[in-house]
Amino acid sequence: MENLKKSKSEMIMDIATKRGLIYPSSEIYGSKAGFWTYGSLGTKIKNKWQNLWRNFFLSLNTNFYEIDDCTIMPKKVFESSGHLKNFTDPLTECEKCHFRFRADQLLEDELKLDIAGLKEEALTKLIRDHKLKCPKCKGNLMDVRFFNMMFDIKVGATGDDIMYLRPESAQSPYLAFKREFEATRRKLPLGLAVIGRVYRNEISPRQGFFRLREFIQAELQIFFDPDKVNEHENWNEVKDESLIIFSDKKLKKITCKELNEKLKIPKFYLYHMTKVQEFYLQVLEIPEKLFRFRELNQEERAFYNKIHFDIELNLETLGGWKEAGGVHYRTDHDLGGHQKGSNTKLEVTIDEDNKVKRFIPHVLELSFGVDRNVWALLDIFYKEEKERTLFSFPNKLAPIDAAVFPLVNKDKLPEIAEKVFLELFKQGFTVFYDDSGSIGKRYRRQDEIGTKNSLTIDFDSIKQNDVTLRDRDTMQQVRIKIKDLKENLNKIKN
Ligand code: GAP
Repeated sequence: MENLKKSKSEMIMDIATKRGLIYPSSEIYGSKAGFWTYGSLGTKIKNKWQNLWRNFFLSLNTNFYEIDDCTIMPKKVFESSGHLKNFTDPLTECEKCHFRFRADQLLEDELKLDIAGLKEEALTKLIRDHKLKCPKCKGNLMDVRFFNMMFDIKVGATGDDIMYLRPESAQSPYLAFKREFEATRRKLPLGLAVIGRVYRNEISPRQGFFRLREFIQAELQIFFDPDKVNEHENWNEVKDESLIIFSDKKLKKITCKELNEKLKIPKFYLYHMTKVQEFYLQVLEIPEKLFRFRELNQEERAFYNKIHFDIELNLETLGGWKEAGGVHYRTDHDLGGHQKGSNTKLEVTIDEDNKVKRFIPHVLELSFGVDRNVWALLDIFYKEEKERTLFSFPNKLAPIDAAVFPLVNKDKLPEIAEKVFLELFKQGFTVFYDDSGSIGKRYRRQDEIGTKNSLTIDFDSIKQNDVTLRDRDTMQQVRIKIKDLKENLNKIKN
């Protein structure tokens, strides 16, 4: 008999679309692949993730700040950054149905080959050698060519002015560097973070919410003196910490000290890797076995990186380890390129030990895809039990702090429940009121979206001025005085 059980990915997507977490953008007109809306609950999870990121990374140094910028930028920005020339993916097209595929993904999917970094000719040869045909109509595939992923737009009434949507948030801090360096009193390291939307004309956005055409990045660009790449003021705090690294096809735990001494990875880089790992394991509470750094070789690295480790999470819905972010040593590639392209001096002059030093700062980039991280939370914290599904989010990521229910809709219970609900709402909690259906169904509905605390006002509440607090994970209930709710919820919230 045909197995009708839905996959984990389908189950999560059903809940996500039905309950207002995420759903296709412009849906009523027929949505386009790679464009998604965050619904009311999804926006809460996204904002919580972004705030945790902001609080954690901006507090690493008193000279780290957040900026916000336009997403449309002049062509010259991307000539200087190298994106117009290099920001490409390999494309092949079916001669018959004209469907376009990302050639490397097609080869990986169809032939299970690892072909990272291969050039057009080599990819075309693989297609010919393996007699690969169009998976849709079995037509012949054309030679592979490179396709630039930038979106261009016409600006102004004449339409002559072509500008581009930024494909990474990183360019904003590079363009702002000169002003911010002056405004923040000329100190290095200087960190400039952006959480914002970026755009890539992905050839074949697939895997639902993972490869998008419009998405959000949270990136921190740290400008520093290249002579100090092998130092960090807090090195002693991290030198004995072990990083989870996948390299040479093996998963290893290696201390920062060893990575520095044996593999010559600089201390400034390693310090920030430990902080990224801490963010995932301690702040987001991702189980250790689902997290790793993967070192990229020269062929795989982005064109601007000298050292590049991806941050990977093992996601069942996507069939294994997937990139959620990266730690990139971009050297002076960007500031150097913009200094040349804009004819504006971006080098800095620093007076150190009575010596004047002039140099272009180097950049260490901590880069994260917000949407991929939100999907990862759904994947990792999703659970199926006999009679319910739940997201066992840590409290700090749960979209709702507490749900409030009157046990029945009579005998003063709704009045008390509404009062409790409004009081918590005014105190700044995210609360949800539900008085429809059986109490069991109401609990299930909250479990399904990951609400940790459900408060029920029952007949004893009238005399005792209390509620039952039911925990999502254990389903245990305890009685709590209404006057103590704020304190109790605050305790559980963080
Ligand atoms: N500024 C560096 C940079 O943009 P990247 O590896 O191209 O580096 C950084 O992108 C992160 O952005 C990735 O690790 C991933 O989490 C996210 N990302 C990249 N392309 C994406 C896409 N098409 N859809 C969703 N997220 C994407």
